[in-house]
Amino acid sequence: MSAHPAPRRRVTLLDLAEKKRAGEPLVMVTAYDHPSARIVEDAGVDLVLVGDSAAMTVLGYDSTVPVTIDEMLMLTKAVRRGLSAPLLVGDLPFGSYEASDELALATAQRFVKEAGVDLVKIERGGTTVDRARALVAAGMPVVGHVGLTPQSAAALGGYRAQGRSAEAALAVIDDALALERAGCSLLVVEAVPSEVTAALMQQMRIPVIGIGAGADADGQVLVFHDLLGVHDGPTARFVKRYADVRAVAVDGVSAYAKEVRARAYPGPEHGYRMPGGEPARLAALLAARHTGS
Ligand code: KIV
Repeated sequence: MSAHPAPRRRVTLLDLAEKKRAGEPLVMVTAYDHPSARIVEDAGVDLVLVGDSAAMTVLGYDSTVPVTIDEMLMLTKAVRRGLSAPLLVGDLPFGSYEASDELALATAQRFVKEAGVDLVKIERGGTTVDRARALVAAGMPVVGHVGLTPQSAAALGGYRAQGRSAEAALAVIDDALALERAGCSLLVVEAVPSEVTAALMQQMRIPVIGIGAGADADGQVLVFHDLLGVHDGPTARFVKRYADVRAVAVDGVSAYAKEVRARAYPGPEHGYRMPGGEPARLAALLAARHTGS
């Protein structure tokens, strides 16, 4: 495959609806900077999420809660600069939309105006349904997120599968349906038993993207660093590693360090040379300076 495939036409929300109708799976992945955006673009995905998982994967926080609007905007802008065909989803961070419709609008508008996202994603059902309705009314396409919602992991009892009892499953389904009624264009459902997704799919008309939610959703999303093995920390059981980029990177940097220490790098081919005659002229200039003449 070519390193630079021919540019694709931009994916639209209509394309997603068409793929759902045709039973063609949707591919979504996260990206957090310009190089990862270029990689997922060239891999031909449909949707790219600058997830607040960035808090943990690239900023070193121990949860998604501390990441700020400005941090997310900086990462999202970098991804925007690297992306052309896939739809770009910006994740509104914890504390940036929950308190009121006005707050949600102000934050979402920054993501649209400053970072050029196509859709914004917000987590949970409950009062988030009202926020989704307000954003949709203001003309912004919204992605809902139900099941395990990491921004409220503490209230959910930690990072664990949701909807395991029939009642809890019903609550997940009701949140999803409420978000669809509020006008969401897309739904992410995270870490629920596959039976819950199967039941949900009977009722949803908008495309549903699963993560740890079984095979019945209209598409799947994974975190870039998880699927490529960029970090060495533990991952959720639903993660499948398709590469071991960290091992390749450690090997590369170790080989570089070894060559620097052995004075094997840089070689003559990595340097610059003065044009003929200039070294001798330099030597003469230095000698003249030394003798003061
Ligand atoms: O922040 C994120 O990366 C997400 C995905 C895991 C869906 O919300």
